[in-house]
Amino acid sequence: MNKEEFYRLLEARRSIRRFKKDLPPKEVIDRILAAGMQAPSGKNLQNWRFFVVTGKKRDEYLAHSQKSWLSLKDVLQRRLKPSLYEFTERFFFTLGDAPVIVFCYSENNPEERYHTNVGSVYMAVENMNLACFVEGLGCCTMGAPLEIKQDVDRFLGVTEREDYKKGELELLCALVIGYPDHSPPKAPRQLDDRIHWIDS
Ligand SMILES: Cc1cc2nc3c(=O)[nH]c(=O)nc-3n(C[C@H](O)[C@H](O)[C@H](O)COP(=O)(O)O)c2cc1C
Repeated sequence: MNKEEFYRLLEARRSIRRFKKDLPPKEVIDRILAAGMQAPSGKNLQNWRFFVVTGKKRDEYLAHSQKSWLSLKDVLQRRLKPSLYEFTERFFFTLGDAPVIVFCYSENNPEERYHTNVGSVYMAVENMNLACFVEGLGCCTMGAPLEIKQDVDRFLGVTEREDYKKGELELLCALVIGYPDHSPPKAPRQLDDRIHWIDS
């Protein structure tokens, strides 16, 4: 990949919220997870933990996703225009038919700064966003499961893990993944007040 292709990749990625129902091959999902694990991490702790949900379990999650909508809908109703609000509501109810959900956790190392633990996992999440794109898949990173964090922990059964019992395993987001069934416009980027060069 040359320089232009790399910058074009960054510009062309979009969050996808409507998917075909076809399940991508496992080896493709494995490549996306492997791309995530190429990310840098504080002290190279590689503290990401991924829980991949497909099939009936994925269908069962929809009830939880709908519950997370209840916590978010009032804020979104104020922020979004009605058509986008309705689209978002449908997305939460169906997850856009995405056949794969990857729940992304941080195993928070007590000897590392909290934000470094968390940031390291998000570095992996961005790698996975880009890997989905080059694989011809789409994805949407979702913070919404944080509204129902403990439900998700129980749903996945991570509550039985030793790191969870020690209070070190924390849900950060979910990635819903599948073949895109729409091509949304670019969400605009703001440039003002984002970058400050400081010199003497
Ligand atoms: C940490 C994080 C949490 C997000 N949570 C949600 C979410 O819960 N629901 C959703 O529809 N989109 C979610 N998004 C996607 C953003 O809305 C999206 O990235 C943003 O609008 C920019 O659009 P783009 O990704 O197409 O460039 C999230 C993105 C990030 C990085």
